[in-house]
Order: sequence, then C-alpha cells, then structure tokens
Amino acid sequence: MEYVTLSNQVVMPKLGFGVFQISKEICEECVLNAIQVGYRHIDTAQSYFNEEEVGQSISKCGIPREELFITTKVWIDNYGYEKTLSSVKKSLEKLKLDYLDLVLLHQPFGDYYGAYRALQDLYKEGKIRAIGVSNFSPDRLADIAGFNEIPPHVNQVEVNPLHQQVAAQENMIKRNVQIQAWAPFGEGKCNMFENPTLKEIGAKYQKSVAQVILRWLMQRNVVALAKSTHIERMKENIEIFDFELSNDEMKKISELDTNTSLFFNHQTPETVDYFLSIIEERKGKI
Ligand SMILES: NC(=O)c1ccc[n+]([C@@H]2O[C@H](COP(=O)([O-])OP(=O)(O)OC[C@H]3O[C@@H](n4cnc5c(N)ncnc54)[C@H](OP(=O)(O)O)[C@@H]3O)[C@@H](O)[C@H]2O)c1
Repeated sequence: MEYVTLSNQVVMPKLGFGVFQISKEICEECVLNAIQVGYRHIDTAQSYFNEEEVGQSISKCGIPREELFITTKVWIDNYGYEKTLSSVKKSLEKLKLDYLDLVLLHQPFGDYYGAYRALQDLYKEGKIRAIGVSNFSPDRLADIAGFNEIPPHVNQVEVNPLHQQVAAQENMIKRNVQIQAWAPFGEGKCNMFENPTLKEIGAKYQKSVAQVILRWLMQRNVVALAKSTHIERMKENIEIFDFELSNDEMKKISELDTNTSLFFNHQTPETVDYFLSIIEERKGKI
C-alpha cells in the first residue's frame, strides 16, 4: 500500500474500498472480504444506506481500529449546524465507532456553510481526524477554504481516464487539499474496461485495465476509491503496487481526457434540481 499525508499530518491509504450501491444484504460480507484481501480504507456515506453494515464488518474484522481509515459523508438534507452535528453522531453510532478518520460534505448544495462549521467543531473535539468536501468545483473549494478557520483536508471528486480533473487537482494542490477519486472506472461507462489504449498498456505488464487506471491514479497522487462486490476483483484492484507506468504511458493516458463528467456537471441548475428531487425521495430514510 502507498499512503498520502494530509495537511494536518493525518496519514491516509492511497487506495480505498468504496461501498456506494452495495446493498445492505451483501455489504457486511463485501467489506469483510475487502479487509481480508488488504484494504484498510473504507469509504461510505449517510446516503448509501449501509453505514450499519459497514459498522458490523469493522467490529467483526479483527483489525485494530487505528489500522483502519473510515470515511463517511454528510447528506445534503442533514446540512445546517445542528443537523450536521446530530447526523455525524448518528453515523458514529451506526458505524459503532468513537471517532471517524474523515467526514466529507457530500455535495456543494444547501446550507453547507452551517454543516462545515459543525465539522470544524467535531474536528476540534477529536471526533473526526480530518474534514473535507466532495464534488466541490475549484471556485466552491476556494470559497469554503478561504472563509473558514480550517480549510478542507480533502475534496472527493469524479476522476477517471475520461474525466481527469487536471485543473481541479492543481487548484487543490495550491490549497493543500488532497484529491480523492470517486468512480475511478467511471462505473464501466463508455466501455471503460475495453479501452484500447488502457488494454495495450496493461498487456505490457500483464495487468488489467482496472489495474492500469488505479496505477495511473497512484502516480498522479490521487487517492482512489474503487468498488467491487467480487472478491477476485477486490484482489485484482489492490495488486497495483508492483509495477510502474512510464512517462510515455502516463502521457498516452492523459490524452484520453475529455474534460467532461460521465455522470453530471455539478455546476448546472439542472443538477441542483436533480439533487432536490433525490433529497425528497430519500426524506426520512437517512
Ligand atoms: N462523493 C461522491 O459523490 C461519490 C459518487 C460516486 C462514488 N463515490 C465513491 O467512490 C466509490 C467508487 O465509485 P463507483 O462505485 O461509483 O464506481 P467505480 O469504482 O468506478 O466502478 C464500480 C464498477 O466497476 C466494476 N468493477 C470493479 N472492479 C472491476 C474490475 N477489476 N474489473 C471489472 N469490473 C470491475 C464493479 O463491478 P462489481 O461490483 O460487480 O464487481 C462496478 O460495476 C464508491 O463506491 C463510493 O465510495 C463517491
């Protein structure tokens, strides 16, 4: 495993296991399998509806708490100072933890300022070792970093070979904010696992497209969160620390960038409307 050190000196494994879209029924087993094959960094969220199952795996896995790095994210409907404080306490209960390694604000909509002040206070209390945001565009990140006492330690955004976030990462580096990649495989969209450039590079090292993508992220100093429900793929995705891409290969991958999200652009009014509709859909369930 490789590690990054955040601006507050907290150390984070560079590859994490993501549990988005892993149902309650299989989540406990998936996380136990991921920990068994070597993952120590788990990424969940209030809106994934599986914090309790992640908590079950953590208590059963037999790995000392301090060797694990656990992240959750505050859902938009829990924003505002008081609601965020109580929702993080609820997340801690569901996860059966005394502290979280990282808590992120999931989306840049609604009262994220009130929510961020709550994260700062929980950080000062020692309930959270690092705080941050997710899906914050460069201007939103500059704003929240500039107008708060504790700038975010992390910004988790979509990063994959078709949406590389080069300018966003430069902005984060300038502000000492660690970038994390969600959907490193773009959830397989655009035939990602069959991409000819990535396949050709992988063939040279006898590595799969998934492994080439994760290796490329490691070499860009991007913390990657990969999800799989299959133990053999979990293993495959962590076997990326025994080869290195050349500068020429890194350049070839950089040429795949379309600078366009495979999911949604967080800066359009339609995206805000979409999130308003899912807040309604999830009301009372989180
Ligand atoms: N902050 C945010 O707004 C946000 C948004 C999305 C995701 N995330 C985080 O990022 C994590 C990863 O993103 P994601 O789950 O959306 O997508 P992803 O990791 O890009 O892709 C997951 C998909 O790839 C497949 N897969 C995984 N490894 C594979 C391999 N080696 N070969 C072939 N197929 C493989 C999985 O299939 P199987 O499961 O069937 O193996 C699944 O269909 C999430 O779990 C979550 O923690 C955060």
